[in-house]
Amino acid sequence: MIDYKMLLPEISRIRELNYGKGRTAFVMTFGCQQNEADSERVRGMLTDMGYTMAEDYSDADIIVVNTCAIRAHAEDKALSVLGNFKAVKAKNPELIVCVIGCMASEPHIVELLKTKFHYVSFTLEPNMLHKLPEAILAKLEDNRRSFILGMDNGEIFEGAPIQRMNAHRAWVSIMYGCNNFCSYCIVPYTRGRERSRDSASVIDECRALIKDGVKEITLLGQNVNSYKSDVDFATLVERIASLEGDFIIRFMTSNPKDVSDRLIEVMGKYTSKVAPYFHLPLQSGSNRILKAMNRKYTKESFLDIVDKLRGAVPQIALSTDVILGFPGEDESDFLDTLDVLRRARFDLVYSFRFSPREGTPAAKMDNMPPPDVVDDRMERLLKMQDEISYECNLPYVGRVERVLVDAISKKSELGTYSARTASNKLVHFAANDVRIGEFINVEIVKAGAFDLIGKIESEEYKND
Ligand code: SAH
Ligand code: SF4
Ligand code: F3S
Repeated sequence: MIDYKMLLPEISRIRELNYGKGRTAFVMTFGCQQNEADSERVRGMLTDMGYTMAEDYSDADIIVVNTCAIRAHAEDKALSVLGNFKAVKAKNPELIVCVIGCMASEPHIVELLKTKFHYVSFTLEPNMLHKLPEAILAKLEDNRRSFILGMDNGEIFEGAPIQRMNAHRAWVSIMYGCNNFCSYCIVPYTRGRERSRDSASVIDECRALIKDGVKEITLLGQNVNSYKSDVDFATLVERIASLEGDFIIRFMTSNPKDVSDRLIEVMGKYTSKVAPYFHLPLQSGSNRILKAMNRKYTKESFLDIVDKLRGAVPQIALSTDVILGFPGEDESDFLDTLDVLRRARFDLVYSFRFSPREGTPAAKMDNMPPPDVVDDRMERLLKMQDEISYECNLPYVGRVERVLVDAISKKSELGTYSARTASNKLVHFAANDVRIGEFINVEIVKAGAFDLIGKIESEEYKND
């Protein structure tokens, strides 16, 4: 374990170098919640080093880009944003640009940044966040760029200050890395082997969050069900659910092969604390494709888990991920996928076109369906699923739901506030003065495929 305290000499050296200079930092995040959580730690560390957070990257002294490598599109976006920093560097020669996140673990990307993006000062792999002070110091003191690859596995970084972006919803990483090597996926190469935090550290962090008024805690890991320290994942959830306070727990992500009966039992037992929501990534409904994906479950065993979840938590909402156009996927494989979606009746489906990732086994597989075939499958899937999503939302109409108020709604024509039900449904409703970050009862009056419209009675305006 690496304790943040070990970095304090470097941190205070940077603080001295920054003293009185009014230096600012900007952190930009792509990718999944793990990256969001890492960025919160990076912001916390940068603040500790004496930087204040800038509103905009154009006048920052250090720009951190936290990247994602999951699909080509994510990488292209990050590279294009990085391109914009050339002009910022020309204006401010002292500018430090650093690339962290999953792209910083890809040898060909690191080489590209080193040779073609001269204004990128350093890269840091996701497992190397504890090296941030060292890399900044190398740049500030010696003007040295660093591009280190070959990650330091097995070390958990504890105790970093976290600058949370949301006062009522918090991410808590419980494990890092992934051992599953699904054949299409880059994550095991970018984030290394699985490591779990001590349950005591996780529970202490949750307890402190609840005390600070956090109302929703999302436990994070690439495969939370393989969490393993002194306790397993189900017990960890149970212990957090047993903490005092008015809060709900979510978690993500779960590989279906590792969903345990014990976890389902805990979800059924602590329904007021564990959100009735499960993201269960299917990827494909075809056993042949699942095998080629190295997913280690079948269509049948997947549907069994869905049944068990619905049995234990009848009001549960389910979501999933599907990859279309995996090498060798033919029409009958696709029909199998549609069949599972029809039977499982997910509330939400996130569907992605297969994107070959350099270094993964699937990138070398033949028979990728042509783009127009994949487009057609995507269209058919979305058409069918939109209807199912709508049907899943309809029963909410007429119900009173306890929702957590998030913000003034972006879609202002729909109402003033946006909120989420415990089952993770987005609700818009109009009100005068409800408090953001509190639970409130809302009557659902209308349903769409992607959101619900609610109203509150005047006497219920107060937060409950
Ligand atoms: N750990 C999670 C997945 C994280 S990646 C799990 O096991 O389910 C999030 C999603 O991105 C995956 O569920 C998958 O649907 C998608 N994805 C991953 N690699 C991809 C690739 N090469 N092409 C397209 N989609 C991909
Ligand atoms: Fe990727 Fe599979 Fe690990 Fe999920 S479980 S992160 S899809 S390798
Ligand atoms: Fe992307 Fe890495 Fe997360 S590839 S999805 S940022 S684990």
